[in-house]
Amino acid sequence: MKTKILAMLRETSDHISGEELSERLGITRSAVWKHINTLKAEGYTIDSVRNKGYKLIDSPDLLDFDRISSQLDTQYIGSKIILLRSTDSTNEEAKRIAQKSRDDGTIIAAEEQIAGKGRLGRSWSSGADGGLYFSLLIRPELPPGDISSITLASGYAVCLAIRSFTGLDARIKWPNDIIIGNKKLCGILTEMAAQSDCIDYVVTGIGINVNNVSFPEEISQKSTSLYLETGTKINRSDLLAEVIKRLDSVISSFLVSLSIDDIENFKSLCATIGRQVSVKRGNTELTGTACDITPTGELIIKTDSGEVTVNSGEVTVQGIY
Ligand code: BTN
Repeated sequence: MKTKILAMLRETSDHISGEELSERLGITRSAVWKHINTLKAEGYTIDSVRNKGYKLIDSPDLLDFDRISSQLDTQYIGSKIILLRSTDSTNEEAKRIAQKSRDDGTIIAAEEQIAGKGRLGRSWSSGADGGLYFSLLIRPELPPGDISSITLASGYAVCLAIRSFTGLDARIKWPNDIIIGNKKLCGILTEMAAQSDCIDYVVTGIGINVNNVSFPEEISQKSTSLYLETGTKINRSDLLAEVIKRLDSVISSFLVSLSIDDIENFKSLCATIGRQVSVKRGNTELTGTACDITPTGELIIKTDSGEVTVNSGEVTVQGIY
């Protein structure tokens, strides 16, 4: 009912009377008043004038299910979308869903995460301050070793979405950060459950700095947001819809060919290639020049003792945070 009232308020730029709302919706005027108060408590600014009625002045910047789903006709990724006000971590929520369902392609997004997780046991700053936090739950019939390629494909899809949505020169810091210039815009944390020979499910958690105006002190020098780069606030629902479309196409084609579609384009967007890098591998550290990427997404590094191929690991790239 609340959603219907909102839709009616959005239809007009004038006030709409309580009487008209109650007649059109078949509820009492006091029920209308209660729903209006709930909307106000949720952050909507609604002007209420005696004898004139109600007028929507401003809406909170919340993810909007109808707005997202109306832009999608994807059969796979985004076949189900769950939007939460608050959760510990969308990755944890996705894992809980995976354990009690057979969902495949579900997107779980939240306005804020109380315990947002980053890679290597770090935390991910996740207040309701303009960030976009979501996870994708899929069940690819693949061996566990293919997980890094799936993560890579997801990062590529996010990079393409950001580029087409904003026109910004977003690039991939291998394996799966998205950067603008030398600052981080997006991080990806992939987790999975698997048997020895087959993945049970993969959860790919994606955090994009969208409308953030500032960052906590410890990451402020190396982080940026789409708002800071463009000077314009971005509708996160529209951006999420664009990302879901790209994920659907990139991941679907990866699952058919088991390689990244259009690897040449991937390489051209990869900021790591051509740079001096060092990669931690257990207790040793490899250093050299990142020179190429294989069709399945491994990074080839030219070292003093020849070429080395790495498929995961924390990479430090000279010149980028
Ligand atoms: C990193 O760069 O360290 C990875 C950051 C991943 C953050 C996202 S936000 C949505 C999802 N839920 C989490 O708790 N983490 C990921």
